Amino acid sequence: MKRTILFLAAAALSISASAEVNYQTIPCPQSIVFDGSGKSALLVKGQTVSYPAENAKMWRNALFAQEYLGLTPEVEKKKPASVSLTLGLESENPDAYCITVGKKGIQIQGASESGVFYGIQTLRKSIADEQGDTIRLPWATIKAEPRFQYRGTMLDCARHFFPVEFVKEFIDILALHGVNKFHWHLTDDQGWRVEVKALPELAKRGSYRPHTILGSNLGVRETPPTPLYDDTPEEGFYTQAQLREIVAYAAERYITIIPEIDLPGHMVAALSVYPELGCTGGPYAVKTFWGVDKDVLCVGNPKTLEFIKTVLGEVCDIFPSKFIHIGGDECPRTRWEKCPKCQAKMKELGVKKESELQTYINREVESFLASRGRELIGWDEIVNGGLSDNATVMFWRGGDGDVVAAKQHHRVINSNKWFCYLDYYQLEKRETQPLAFTRYLPLSKCYSMEPVSPELTPEESKYILGAQCNLWTEYVSSPDHAEYMLLPRLAALSEVMWLQPAEKDFGQFKVRLAALEKYYRRLGYKYCPHYE
Ligand code: ACM
Ligand code: ZN
Repeated sequence: MKRTILFLAAAALSISASAEVNYQTIPCPQSIVFDGSGKSALLVKGQTVSYPAENAKMWRNALFAQEYLGLTPEVEKKKPASVSLTLGLESENPDAYCITVGKKGIQIQGASESGVFYGIQTLRKSIADEQGDTIRLPWATIKAEPRFQYRGTMLDCARHFFPVEFVKEFIDILALHGVNKFHWHLTDDQGWRVEVKALPELAKRGSYRPHTILGSNLGVRETPPTPLYDDTPEEGFYTQAQLREIVAYAAERYITIIPEIDLPGHMVAALSVYPELGCTGGPYAVKTFWGVDKDVLCVGNPKTLEFIKTVLGEVCDIFPSKFIHIGGDECPRTRWEKCPKCQAKMKELGVKKESELQTYINREVESFLASRGRELIGWDEIVNGGLSDNATVMFWRGGDGDVVAAKQHHRVINSNKWFCYLDYYQLEKRETQPLAFTRYLPLSKCYSMEPVSPELTPEESKYILGAQCNLWTEYVSSPDHAEYMLLPRLAALSEVMWLQPAEKDFGQFKVRLAALEKYYRRLGYKYCPHYE
């Protein structure tokens, strides 16, 4: 679709000059055209918001309009309501919306229900600065559609456990920013957070560690000496009932949860419960410090595949997502090189390199997921040994993994660490900041991200499904801190996900951000108030 940007200069200036609503939110709609009449429609608390009869999603959208705008839902009648939610916008993009403010009141029309939801979010953010029960909305037509179909954010709940209420708030924040995929990192060396009914000990014991290393242990591979730890146990897992509740909560907000069970590396928490699944037989303990561990799943043990299928079988029952993330990152081959079972497996498979064991496990997992109607996503290490035929690659290492995978016609999600890793410092003066991962990722760098490499042809570019930012939580143990790392960098990345490169403007973005930050404050979200 050919798109136009019609930012009227006067409208842009009005942000600071007056409280006039100008619809310039984040992500910014691609087209905002004022009709020039100078007239306004009034949005009054308690007014009606109509939705088409017998459409449960549109009814739910009307309830969101009630929650965010103070309106009263009613089924659509002949006479237009003050605010009407409708479908039927002509667009190939299901997330497209058009808001028309004019003689007939306020109409939010979507190409599908999700488009209507994003329109409501835009209206909500547009008036975030307004006070009182009556808000004046200048007549205008506002149109938007996201550039990418995949707009993701990851939260690591394995390194630190975050309670259900916070996970829901996190999802609300994603919805506010037009994100539609919540990648949920649920298992790692430091904690197993998902209940598996067939393996009740797994979450019960694998979700507990007695303490956590203080400060950064970057580069430390062996167990650090005990004085370096805090004295606070870290524990918690999500029951299947809670997971289902969160899946439904996200779905109402047009967010698909993509669960990640990281394998065959990052599995020490599981090995601590089932040591026979490791090459040495253990004993193992849930890790209390960070880094890449050489103890991984033993691929030569047939019980390993059984274990994976049991876990993923239940994961598929809980999470309806087409994509299931199986990690695949940072899996050292050290143990496999010495393990008689793994070496025997290599002989049986007729392969010479240990990396082929990961290829083998990925293929097995892929066909298991396919039998459940699902598809595999893995971190970009799977490009270098382990890439299954239909796998989608989550590019993170910042080399050329995105280009290599797309040229092989694998779908790619760009979460390049240099632009998307929200555990890095956001300000250069680190001493002013809470401890973070050693690198630096300012807001401006997030905003500058271009998810489609210029090395790709237009045809190859179609394999880039979208972008994703990741919040790893080695050094983030509280909800407030998680929000502080997320915001406002998520705002920058939401424009990366929604806008075409020519539509982005960091200077304009900063003006819009000042307004959004006021809304963060009203909603009680923590954020980093300074940016570079
Ligand atoms: C990763 O950061 N290990 C995917
Ligand atoms: Zn082994």
